[in-house]
Amino acid sequence: VARSGARGRLQSLDASTVATKKQQKQEDVRGSESNTTRRTFQEMQEERQKQAEHTVLINCPSKINEKNFLKYLSQYGTINSHFFFESYGTHAVVEFSEKESIELLQAQANIPSSNNESAVPFKSRLFTLKLTSALQVSGSKPSIQLQKQSTIPINELIQKLCLAESVEQQLYILLEEHQLTDENLRLRFLVCSLIKDLVTAYFPESDVKSFGSSVNTFGKLGCDLDMFLDLDAVESSGTKKASGAFSIEYQMKCVPSGRVATQRILSVIGKCLENFGPGCTSVQNILNARCPLVRFSHQPAGFQCDLTANNRIALRSSELLYVYGSLDPRVRALVFSIRCWARVHGITSSIPGAWITNFSLTMMVLFFLQKRDPPIIPTLDQLKNLAGAADKQIIEGNDCTFVSDLNQINLSENKETLDVLLTEFLEFYGHFAFNKNSINIRKGKEQNKPEVYPLYIQNPLEQTLNISKNVNHAQLERFVALARDSSWILQQENMGHPSIGSAQPWGLAALLLPSVFQNANQGKKKKRTGASGRIKSLLESLKKNNLSRNLPASNE
Ligand code: GTP
Ligand code: MG
Repeated sequence: VARSGARGRLQSLDASTVATKKQQKQEDVRGSESNTTRRTFQEMQEERQKQAEHTVLINCPSKINEKNFLKYLSQYGTINSHFFFESYGTHAVVEFSEKESIELLQAQANIPSSNNESAVPFKSRLFTLKLTSALQVSGSKPSIQLQKQSTIPINELIQKLCLAESVEQQLYILLEEHQLTDENLRLRFLVCSLIKDLVTAYFPESDVKSFGSSVNTFGKLGCDLDMFLDLDAVESSGTKKASGAFSIEYQMKCVPSGRVATQRILSVIGKCLENFGPGCTSVQNILNARCPLVRFSHQPAGFQCDLTANNRIALRSSELLYVYGSLDPRVRALVFSIRCWARVHGITSSIPGAWITNFSLTMMVLFFLQKRDPPIIPTLDQLKNLAGAADKQIIEGNDCTFVSDLNQINLSENKETLDVLLTEFLEFYGHFAFNKNSINIRKGKEQNKPEVYPLYIQNPLEQTLNISKNVNHAQLERFVALARDSSWILQQENMGHPSIGSAQPWGLAALLLPSVFQNANQGKKKKRTGASGRIKSLLESLKKNNLSRNLPASNE
C-alpha cells in the first residue's frame, strides 16, 4: 500500500522533484521484482489464492470514514489488510486473518429488501455497507485514499515520459504506470475465488485458477481476467483400483465428448453467474469457440472475465511467461513498452481479427532477447534441461517440461541498456525475414517456416501450432513499417536524449505520439527515402507540437 501511495503522489511535473522521485520509483520497480522473483509460479498462486479466501468485497457509502469502517469490521476479527477503490461506487477489499470472521459477518448480514424487487438469496462475499442514521449524524470526515485500478490517459503518460533522464528510465516509468498493482492483483484473485464459490456448489473438489496476463507478470491495469475451471481433482478421484470381488462407480450422465461435457458445464455456470452472481453482468456463453468460454463483466471489480475449462496447457504457458518475466527487469520493461507502442498505433486491438495479439508480441520480444549476444534470457530448451523430476509435465501429449525454480537459472551476463534494446528490437523486426523464417523461443533461433502463414510464431508448448496464424500480410506489413519508422526516429539526433527544459516528446514519448505515424503508414509501397522524408517533416511539426492538445486515451 505504501508503495502505491508513493506512486499515486507523482503528480507534479516539476522536473527537479520528479528526477529524484523517478529514481526512487525505478528502484521500487526493480526492488518489487527482486522480492517476487524467488517465488515459484505455484507458490505465488497458492499464497494469493489463500489470501483471497480470507477476503471480502464491500460496497461502501462514498463518504465513509476509514477509522469507523475498520472499527466496525474489526468486531468480526483481525483485519490483515484493506484498501479502497472506485468502480460503480466506492468499494473496499478487506482481508481477514481468519476465515471464521467471514462466517460471522455473513451471519450478521441482512437480505436486501425493496418494495418492487425481490432478492435471489445467494449469499456470497460481496456486501453492501449501509450507514445507520446514528453514524450519519456523527459528522466524521471522510478519510479514505482510493487505489488506482486503471492506467493514466496516454497524453499524461507522454508528459511524464518527457521528464525522464534516459530512454531506459522512460521504459521503467511506463512499466510502473501500467503494471498491475498489488491491490489490483488481490482484487483479481478475489474475483476468481468468488467464482470458485459458485462452481464448487456443484463440483466441490474443483478449482478455479487464474492464468493469462493477470498472473504471468505481463498484465496491464484494466486487462481481462482469464480463469479456468479445473475439474482434474474431481475426475482423478474416480480412478481407484478395485479391491475384493466388487468395484463401484458413480452413475453419471455421459455425453459424446469431453468438449461437449465442458460446453454443458460452462453453460450451467454461465446461467448461474447470470442469475445468482452478484456483480456479474453481460454474461455471454461463447461455447462454440475453439476453447469454449463464458465471458462476463465483474462490475464492482471493473474488468472483463473469461472463464474456460480444462485449459491446463494455458496455465503452463502462463507459468513459462512468469519465469521469463521474473528473470530480468528488462524483459517486462520492454514488453510493456512494445505492447503500449503497438496499441497506440493500432497494431494490436481489443477486437479479435487479423491483428498481432499481445501474446504474440510478447513472444516476439522474448525471442529478440534470446537473440542478443550474450542472450538476455535462456531458450525454452535450456529451461527444460534445468528441470527437476517434479517439473516434468506432459499435457495432452505435449512436453511442457521446464524448470519452475527461478534460483536454478543463471542470470545473464548481458548488460545492454533498454535504450539500446528498444532501438535494436525495432531494427530487428524492421528487417526480419518473415517470408522464410519462423520465430521459435524453444530453440532461440529462427527456423524455416513449416507453413505459409505471413507470421509464424511457434507455440512453445504445442509445437505444431502457430500462435499468430490469424495475422494477415497487411497487418504484418504495418508492423514492419512502424518498426522501421520508429527505429529511424529513435536514431535521430536529440531523439534518444532528454530535451532539456522543454516538453518536446523524445525517445519513447515520441514513439507513442499517434500523429507521427498517421501519414507514415499510408502508401506502404513507397520507398524508404520517401518515408524518411515524410517523417522528417513530421518531426518538424512535432517540435512545434503542443502536448496540451488532446490525444486519444488508451483503452484496453
Ligand atoms: P491480455 O489479456 O491481452 O493482457 O494478454 P493475455 O496473455 O492474457 O492474452 P489472452 O487473454 O488473449 O489469453 C490468455 C492466455 O491464453 C494467454 O496468456 C496464453 O496463455 C493463451 N493464449 C492466448 N492466445 C493464444 C493463442 O493464440 N494460442 C495459444 N496456444 N494460447 C493463447
Ligand atoms: Mg488475458
